[in-house]
Amino acid sequence: MGTKIVLDTDPGHDDAIALLLALASPEVEVLGVTSVSGNQTLEKTTTNALKILEFVDRTDIPVHVGCDRPLVREQWAAAYVHGESGLDGPDLPDPTTKPAEGHAVDFIAQAVSEHEGVVLVPVGPLTNIGLLLARYPGIEERIARVVIMGGAIAEGNVTPAAEFNIWADPEAAHRVFTSGIDVTMVGLDVTHKALLFPQKVDELREAGRVGGLVAALYDFYHGHHQRMYGWEGSPVHDALAVAHVVSDRFLQTEHRYVEVDIGPEPGRGRTYVDLWQRSGKEPNCHVGVGVDGPGFIDVLVDRLKSLK
Ligand code: RIB
Ligand code: CA
Repeated sequence: MGTKIVLDTDPGHDDAIALLLALASPEVEVLGVTSVSGNQTLEKTTTNALKILEFVDRTDIPVHVGCDRPLVREQWAAAYVHGESGLDGPDLPDPTTKPAEGHAVDFIAQAVSEHEGVVLVPVGPLTNIGLLLARYPGIEERIARVVIMGGAIAEGNVTPAAEFNIWADPEAAHRVFTSGIDVTMVGLDVTHKALLFPQKVDELREAGRVGGLVAALYDFYHGHHQRMYGWEGSPVHDALAVAHVVSDRFLQTEHRYVEVDIGPEPGRGRTYVDLWQRSGKEPNCHVGVGVDGPGFIDVLVDRLKSLK
């Protein structure tokens, strides 16, 4: 069996694609999915996680409900990107399955206690992970790695300074970056260089029901990136974080000191990456600095095609 992971997520179009990639990749074993508020409210992100797992007949994978708001800041849904449902575009039936008993934080604590080498893959705000570290002192010793989608060296998408996942709950992110855990940051600097283009999506559209679902997700999600950035392709942020657990061949990372701005705007949620090691502070994060975008996209599309 592959690397055991817990996907902590706020589906979200790219979250959904990230989950499908994990399910299509024998290199990883999904122990469970934990939902968090972010792209949409907790109720909607939880429902969306259940919908995706049902669509691919993987209701054997539990969904545990997490936090419905950030540790300190107000909950703020990115409906301008993902729509009112959080998964606008495809007409997915309401789920017939329910979330599993037990809070997400308790599920993660149990999973990392029962299994060796578990990698946490948070691809939404880090609220659940921040709370885990507070609720279970010492749990960080049981966590092999945390590979996050979040942050940026040099740009922002929700504000000029910050990437959404970190901006949404900067205090939680601060806890993760100062935890001493082996943290990898898959940020906008690399996700924005690994775009999925319509020509590749057309391959998926022809590939069957799962490919058709991904194409329908993309059609809605791509509209935002065309309007906002004028790009011909769209970043599949969260799937790149999962891909980095599948194989380290897609990303180039550098071990650097990273600090989260937990102050007010305009710096709120900025990840200050000490790229040129000017701070004298010990590196605490493997930062994505380069990516084989086409290589990642080819593997992503091939894996998604394999799902029926
Ligand atoms: O900034 C991109 C991140 O914010 C992705 O995880 C996307 O799903 C949203 O949560
Ligand atoms: Ca997300």
